[in-house]
Amino acid sequence: MKRDFLNISDLTKREIEEVIDYAIKLKKDKFADRSLENKSIGLVFMKPSTRTRISFEVGVYQMGGQPIYIQGSSTQMSRGEELKDTARVLSRYLDGLVIRTYAHSEVEELASYSDFPVINALTDYAHPCQVLADFQTIYEIFGRLEGLKMAYIGDGNNMANTLLIGCAMMGLDISIASPEGYEPNGKAVAEALRFARETGSKVEILNDPKEAAKGANILYTDVWVSMGQEGEKDKVNVFQGFTIDDELLKVADSKAIVMHCLPAHKGEEITEEVFEKFADVIFQQAENRLHAQKALMSFLFRK
Ligand code: CP
Ligand code: NVA
Repeated sequence: MKRDFLNISDLTKREIEEVIDYAIKLKKDKFADRSLENKSIGLVFMKPSTRTRISFEVGVYQMGGQPIYIQGSSTQMSRGEELKDTARVLSRYLDGLVIRTYAHSEVEELASYSDFPVINALTDYAHPCQVLADFQTIYEIFGRLEGLKMAYIGDGNNMANTLLIGCAMMGLDISIASPEGYEPNGKAVAEALRFARETGSKVEILNDPKEAAKGANILYTDVWVSMGQEGEKDKVNVFQGFTIDDELLKVADSKAIVMHCLPAHKGEEITEEVFEKFADVIFQQAENRLHAQKALMSFLFRK
């Protein structure tokens, strides 16, 4: 039975730990896993990308496979060909599909009509590949995930939804601070609360950055205006006071780190000073995209 990775909870806690361990091993030897030999992996992007596209292309190559970059606008999907038909066609050529698009329901539909593993490379709802790499980074820095507190400051977007569910699954406490009306998706909150009951993790949805950041080991942020929201420039005014700056860092744990999935809008969600102070962590996250995704593909294509 094929496995998809549409959201972080498509893997169990144990499987996430297994993928992170393996990603750390692969980081030391880039050609150690050749499980994509003789496999062709399609990479469909309906939105721009630097990290996700390039790390998947390089990762598939390092694992012996053929990456095929497919710009969404160049396909018949952009002229209205149905997703379920596209999925049934691609299933006859490819061995796997990585897709970045808008509505989460589109990746679900593609996955349900495909015979091969489908990996979500970002939707408006979730960005699970980023969160896998983030958990690898946290593990490398702290030596554990469980018992840490993450505070996410900013828009209740795809990153907030996925971190919320992921932290609750892995036993990290998570406090999210967003302006009123910009909180994470209710479905993600409900899923996180279900996991939190099993793991004992504390989940808080707040509107005050300082309250959220109190004692946090990790401060995390993302852009205020996500891809597809370019018409919502007014959001920048609503988010004043939700910047990770030196003042906010003072209320976090004295050894706290700051994380960002990138790309960053310095001067909005994070100051230039804080960004540069934690640049090593932020670029470690970016690097780990490659290793975590390779470990994920090895796991999914072994099944
Ligand atoms: N963090 C991330 O997914 O970056 P890209 O949009 O460049 O892929
Ligand atoms: N929330 C951002 C994440 C980019 C990696 C967006 O969707 O544009």
